[in-house]
Amino acid sequence: MCGIFGCILDGGDRAAPIIHSALNQLEYRGYDSVGEATIHSGHLYVKKDVGKISEVHSSVNLDDMPGSVGIGHTRWATHGAPTQKNAHPHTDCQEKIALVHNGIIQNFAELRKELEGRGHLFKSNTDTEVMPHLIEDYFKEGLSFSESVRRALLRVKGSYAIAAISVDDPNTIICARKESPLVIGVGKSANYLASDIPAFLPMTKMVLFLEEEEMAVLKRDEVTIFNIGSGDQTKRDPMRIEWTVEMAQKGGKPHFMLKEIAEQPLALQNALRGELIYYNLMATILAKARNIILLACGTSSHACIVATYLFSKLAHVNSSVSIASEFMEQFGNSVDEGTVVLAVSQSGETADTLSAIRSAKDKGATILGITNVMGSSLTRLASVYIGQNSGPEIAVAATKTFTSQVLILSKLAIALAEKRGTIRSDEIDSLMTDLGRIPWYVKKELESNDEKIKRLAAKYRDRFSFCFLGRGLNVATALEGRLKLLELAYTPSLAYSAGESKHGFIALVNENYPVIFIAPNDDLKSRLIGNIMEMKARGADIIAITEEKDKELQTLADDWIEVPKGINPLFTPIVYAIPLQLFAYHVSVMRGHDPDRPRNLAKSVTVE
Ligand code: M6R
Repeated sequence: MCGIFGCILDGGDRAAPIIHSALNQLEYRGYDSVGEATIHSGHLYVKKDVGKISEVHSSVNLDDMPGSVGIGHTRWATHGAPTQKNAHPHTDCQEKIALVHNGIIQNFAELRKELEGRGHLFKSNTDTEVMPHLIEDYFKEGLSFSESVRRALLRVKGSYAIAAISVDDPNTIICARKESPLVIGVGKSANYLASDIPAFLPMTKMVLFLEEEEMAVLKRDEVTIFNIGSGDQTKRDPMRIEWTVEMAQKGGKPHFMLKEIAEQPLALQNALRGELIYYNLMATILAKARNIILLACGTSSHACIVATYLFSKLAHVNSSVSIASEFMEQFGNSVDEGTVVLAVSQSGETADTLSAIRSAKDKGATILGITNVMGSSLTRLASVYIGQNSGPEIAVAATKTFTSQVLILSKLAIALAEKRGTIRSDEIDSLMTDLGRIPWYVKKELESNDEKIKRLAAKYRDRFSFCFLGRGLNVATALEGRLKLLELAYTPSLAYSAGESKHGFIALVNENYPVIFIAPNDDLKSRLIGNIMEMKARGADIIAITEEKDKELQTLADDWIEVPKGINPLFTPIVYAIPLQLFAYHVSVMRGHDPDRPRNLAKSVTVE
């Protein structure tokens, strides 16, 4: 997730200071590098560098650029490390076209090869740079600037929100979107575009929402919208937004956490877009390992638990999870050159995780990483890493980054199974198809469940304690549901493998003790029903997360939340975790807490 902005102002006004202040409002979307481009008197001016906006501004003065037309970008690196040359805007060979982008271009490698074959010179390692070069070629063929952009967009696969300017059409900005957000602000003799409304809210409250696969041509007095595929024009009136800047940053939601929960379909789609080459590389290293340890803290360790089940089920590989702060005590003496440590950390900066990685490295282990922050310490310590592409997560509670980690680990398990030949190629294809459907299931679930979960939160909000039970892969989901409720609502809670619950936990159960069962319709269901009966017999209140219309479970439960039918059981933790995120969120709000900033916690725990 990055932030993009563009403005075309009245001739006397300078774009650069407006772009700079707009980027400040978008910095929550990414903050590893920043850049601006403006047009003035037939020249393209570009300033960009690595660092936070304030750091870059103090070294290059982002306000000091001429021209009333310009674009800007604040970056959250996906392809290419956070460096000066990878910062946006990116330009064509002749430095006449500048473009900013939020999203991921999947086929950039083949397009780059094709363009280099035609003599184009690339200056960065980004996926984005193919676009100004493609536009350059179409423009040379004699097409208009807007048609050149449209044609270029038809060549790229993946997600994008882009804005482009050209010295050959200096009174125009072209912007477009597919699967990445983009809104247009309609002013008086001035128009704006941005990833998010707060960027232009001080200038205008009149907003035009671009739909999927639409582009817009911005002039000072006019905005024209087109469908990218057909090139047909679409008419749409702007609407007035009454949001404050803070409300707008949260996408109109009361908290970042709720916004981030809602972003999961897109975050998962972006997680799926990670390049196969890194999965193959990791799978090759894992397949040769004598000993595989998954290393993480908190929520990330729950994603690792799911991975151990999948590595075994699909690739017949044994692995263990180590909580980073215990790693050296637990495994220190058995780590050697044959050990592969797969570290999972959203921030890539958790001190316990980094310290364990350094110790493992000293003992000769190979380090692999999964992280959401490119350029983080984890990306520097790992031999191979995969970026989550979830975009920044502001709320302390991990939500979209957890489900994305599980999805990436699932894809890695499939790659490992392929490498080891433990499943047939038709099974691999069908697993990849099932995994590819997960963002759709999550979208469907989010559309239908929130009100019901809110009612359940209201009913159970004052219970002193909860227990979460699951079987198989969903033991991890139970642990994650518990962690969310603990950290957000400060409710003492337990989580167990349902089978293990009779070896101790059951002593706690009495009349109306709430037990939440993660209960997909899988091979383990009949045994889980046995556990439900054990709890029911002792008077527990049963809340079940079930498949849609699972009457067998729903007649046993006091309350239930439905999850869409048809999810491959191997990928249920991704979808079944989401009602638990929402439940914890609503209980927290109803108990008067701030779910974005739970007490005593930090987003990134940088002390051991
Ligand atoms: O950045 P990391 O993934 O390494 O963070 C690990 C934990 O601190 C983190 O998952 C924490 O448990 C979450 N904030 C819980 O929601």
